[in-house]
Order: sequence, then C-alpha cells, then structure tokens
Amino acid sequence: MLSAVSATVAKSILPKSGALGTVAARLKHTLPDLPYDYNALEPYISADIMKLHHQKHHQTYVNNLNAAEEQLAEAMQKDMSVDNINQIIKLQPVLKFNGGGHINHSIFWEVLSPNGGGEPSGDLKHVITRDFGSFDRMKEELTNATVAIQGSGWGWLGYNPTSCRLRIAALPNQDPLQPTTGLIPLFGIDVWEHAYYLQYKNVRPDYIKAIWNIVNWNAVSKRLADAKQAS
Ligand SMILES: [Fe+2]
Repeated sequence: MLSAVSATVAKSILPKSGALGTVAARLKHTLPDLPYDYNALEPYISADIMKLHHQKHHQTYVNNLNAAEEQLAEAMQKDMSVDNINQIIKLQPVLKFNGGGHINHSIFWEVLSPNGGGEPSGDLKHVITRDFGSFDRMKEELTNATVAIQGSGWGWLGYNPTSCRLRIAALPNQDPLQPTTGLIPLFGIDVWEHAYYLQYKNVRPDYIKAIWNIVNWNAVSKRLADAKQAS
C-alpha cells in the first residue's frame, strides 16, 4: 500500500495543479502512486532504483513535510513571543527542503513513461524551437546544465510566465523551481545519486542520456498548456 500516511484526512499532491492542499483542516500529504510499474522504465532506470526512490526517498519527504507542517500549525497557535517566532523561522528551510522534495518527485514520476522518448510535437515543439533554435539544442543545454550541478540537485525545463518563454535552470538540493525562480516546472531531471547510483554508479552523463528515452512528452505538453492558462 503506497498511500495513506497516518492521518484522519488525507490528500494527495496533484502536481499539475501546483497545490499542496490547505493545512487548515490538518490535511496530510500522501505519496502519489506511480503511473506505471516499478520495472516499467527498464532498461533505462532499474526497478530497484524506482522502488527505493519512490517508496523510501519520496516517502521520507512526504513524512517530513507533514511533520514540519504540523509543527508550524502548532507554533502558529501559540503566543507571539520571540521564542515562538524563532521556532516558525526555524521551520522554513525544513519546509522548503521537504516540500520541494515532494513537489519535485511528484512531477518527476509524471513526466516519465515507458512509452516516452522521441521528440515533442504540437505547441511544445513550436516553443522549444522558437526559444532554443531546435529540440536538439534544448536537449543539449538541459543536459549540460544538469550534468554540471555540483552535488545533489535538479535540472529543469521551465516556463517563464512573464516573458512567456521557456528557460533552463539548474537548482541545488530540493529547491522547488517555481518559488525559487518564478519558472513553472515542465520537465525535471533528478540528479541526486539516489536516482541513478545503483545502476550508473558515478557516471551521471550516462543516466541523463538514458532519461531522454523515457520522457513523457504528452505530460510535458499538458504541463505547458496548464502553465500558459495559469499565467
Ligand atoms: Fe530523488
């Protein structure tokens, strides 16, 4: 059973909505089910990696986010003493890290598919060509930016709602793209070692090369359409 963290009321994150739900009713975030089997992305990502990544790593972000939100809700109910303000401030990096981890991984599962790969079509193809010159150029830029991340982080293709242009971004840790840069995330590549080390050891470029074979361009296209509608 992959869902249901201890809670009386549970609500899953819906990555396309960008919403985490409200905390007012003590809602708990839950681990979203994968839209495919753990072995479905083989040979590009092994079942062992997918199972560990989803059941252990993502679940931990969900658990820690729920715990931090609970502590925040408690602190917000207390007096306005300096000690209590300090407690609230102390929770901010914890919320960013675990909230980012939950958002980022929820998107990651959605934008991969055993039937993915190839090239995008329609409007997504049009805007990629417009903003990068060609699909291959975008692929090269995102690959290079993601390979170059020092330590753990994510490479992103994002939509800038102000300029209405696509942009590449590379962020450390679990920094969530939209609150950090203003870009709406369309496609992301997790380059924490937990995402590839069991299969690719330290050869991050090979893992990123493999990822392009399983990109769910239909899901990325849908995210672009939603981003345009929301901006
Ligand atoms: Fe991860």
